Amino acid sequence: MTERHINNIALVGFMGTGKTSVGRALATMLRFDFWDTDDLVERRAGKSISAIFADDGEPAFRKLECEVLEAVGAMQRAVIATGGGLITHSDNLARLKACALVACLWASPDAIWNRVRQQSHRPLLNTPDPVHRIRELLNQRQGFYRQADILINAEVRSIRQVAQQIEHQFRIMQGQQNSREGTDPKARRGP
Ligand code: S3P
Repeated sequence: MTERHINNIALVGFMGTGKTSVGRALATMLRFDFWDTDDLVERRAGKSISAIFADDGEPAFRKLECEVLEAVGAMQRAVIATGGGLITHSDNLARLKACALVACLWASPDAIWNRVRQQSHRPLLNTPDPVHRIRELLNQRQGFYRQADILINAEVRSIRQVAQQIEHQFRIMQGQQNSREGTDPKARRGP
C-alpha cells in the first residue's frame, strides 16, 4: 500500500448511517473543513443525484464520484463524508486511505430503512422492496466497509458519541504518525 499521510478524516458506510451529521459534528469539534462527496458531485454535474441517475445512469454517477475524489488528496484538515457506494468503486478506498483516517459507520438494514424512508433522494432504494435491496447492497459491500480503519456501530450511539470516538482514534493515529515522522513535539523537547 502507498504511504499514508493522515491529515483528514473520511466517513464511509451505507446510506442513512449518519455520515453527514457525524461529519459536520466532527468538523466543528476539530475546526476542520467539511465536505460531502454527494454535494461535490451535484455541484460538478449541475444537477441532483436523482437527476444524474435518471438522465445519465449509475456509471456516470460513479465516474463523477471518482473525479471529485481526485481533489481530496490535496486536502488538509478536512472531514469528508462520502456517498455509500463510493469506496466500492475503482481505487477510491486506497485514495482515501492515503490521506485520511477512514471511519465506517454501521447500522442494521431495519435501522437504515427507518432513517431513509421519509427521504426521496436515494435512487438506489426506489424499488418495491427497499429493505431487501438494503440487505443485498450491504452484503455486496461489507467486504469494502470492513477495510476501514475503524468500524463504528452508529445505531446505538448518538451523533456526538460517534464523533468523539472517531476524534479519539484520529488523535491516536496522528500521534503515531508524528512519532514515526519525527515531528512529535514531545520527542523534540530538549533534555
Ligand atoms: C449511494 C449513496 C448516496 C448517493 C447515491 C448512491 C450508494 O449517498 O451517493 O444515492 O450507492 O449507496 P449517501 O450514502 O450519502 O446517502
